[in-house]
Amino acid sequence: MQVVILDSAEEMGEYGADEILRDIDAERLDVLGVATGSSPLPVYAALARRASPAVAGLTAFALDEYVGVAHDHPQSYHWVIHRDVTVPLGLDPARVHVPDGAASDLAAACSAYERQIADAGGVDLQILGIGGTGHIGFNEPTSSFGSRTRIKTLTPQTRRDNARFFATPEDVPVHCVTQGLGTIMAAGRILLFASGLGKAAAVARAVEGPLSSMCPGSILQLHEHATVVLDREAASELTLTEYYRFVFDNRPDRHDE
Ligand code: GLP
Repeated sequence: MQVVILDSAEEMGEYGADEILRDIDAERLDVLGVATGSSPLPVYAALARRASPAVAGLTAFALDEYVGVAHDHPQSYHWVIHRDVTVPLGLDPARVHVPDGAASDLAAACSAYERQIADAGGVDLQILGIGGTGHIGFNEPTSSFGSRTRIKTLTPQTRRDNARFFATPEDVPVHCVTQGLGTIMAAGRILLFASGLGKAAAVARAVEGPLSSMCPGSILQLHEHATVVLDREAASELTLTEYYRFVFDNRPDRHDE
């Protein structure tokens, strides 16, 4: 795993946009995995600034969605992805996919989502954030490392963390559908973004902690091409910070994972 520590959200965004554009130029990125949450927003903003026609041609798959929330609800991830990704990057809405949490048969919708990803040739580069519980997507602690897209129950902590987006804390859905850890791990490359002190403990457990489903993000230690992009605050509980900076300053090529 490569750990990149930068000074600002803007630098993190520029770094992410550079990596994505480099992979597109090298013809190894057609299918982009996109995440909701505030952490990847600077990446989308930086990509939007570049206004590259190559970006507009990408196919995208989102990680997760709330159950029982209409697609046009302002807090549905269908809506959030449309607002934060599809429109600013100029993507074709027909090529932007989000798991269907409003389906009458959720299990069938989850299987169909896995098939859609496979039919598109798999995700080439997956953008991730990380939750305070260590979740990636909505894979809460004790999620199976082999899991695929399925229904999950949110933890009380995640419901509290996300309450700011809803009128009342009770309005936060209890259930979600999310790509599994096995789905996420099948991506060719992973870029995880985290900023702020609130993420420091989860980041330290994911990057340096033991491999454990108690911190689902720790599975990234098994990925061949995973990069964790942090600001100083999010990196503040890591022990090998000096080494990560040394590696970054001396990287033999752009893929020193
Ligand atoms: C949500 C999403 C995750 C996201 C996480 C962190 O619960 N399901 O995909 O990574 O929260 O969000 P933020 O980046 O806003 O802290």
